[in-house]
Amino acid sequence: MKLRSFMILSALSFGGFAFLSWQSVQLPYSMPEAATQGKQVWQAYNCISCHTVFGNGGYNGEDMTHIVSKRSSKELLNFFANPPVMRPNHKLLHPKVSPEEAQNLVQYFNYIDKIPTLGWPPKARKSGEST
Ligand code: HEC
Repeated sequence: MKLRSFMILSALSFGGFAFLSWQSVQLPYSMPEAATQGKQVWQAYNCISCHTVFGNGGYNGEDMTHIVSKRSSKELLNFFANPPVMRPNHKLLHPKVSPEEAQNLVQYFNYIDKIPTLGWPPKARKSGEST
């Protein structure tokens, strides 16, 4: 093989390698802006202190990883617009968020619902239930 052909082939192989590496690090879909903002609302209100996502967080409220499979967007928006008094002693009102923050939270929940979690979270244990 001539030196010139060798150099052209090397350059092409390197180009192909660089392209494939670049392609493999791209995510299949990026996080929508509204979902990113929803995550910031989630952080700002410290929702994690009472709710878990992917199993991490507090156990006062339920896990939110797949909440959109259980509640429609309309139900969630309605919940945020009219937060209930919370169990167990029904004295504290559930944190209230603005309509815009509620929309972003719903986008965030829709986004995390699509992340494959291999069946996580497992079925929650009812309080008072023994193992
Ligand atoms: C002080 C603890 C606490 C904090 C902080 C908190 N939650 Fe809750 N959340 C609860 C409890 C308890 C319930 C169950 C309400 C009831 O008694 O029905 C609940 C219920 C919910 C529900 C309804 C679940 C369903 O099955 O319908 C959603 C959605 C929710 N919370 C989202 C949030 C978001 C988003 C935040 C942050 C903005 C947040 N929560 C902050 C304790 C909390």
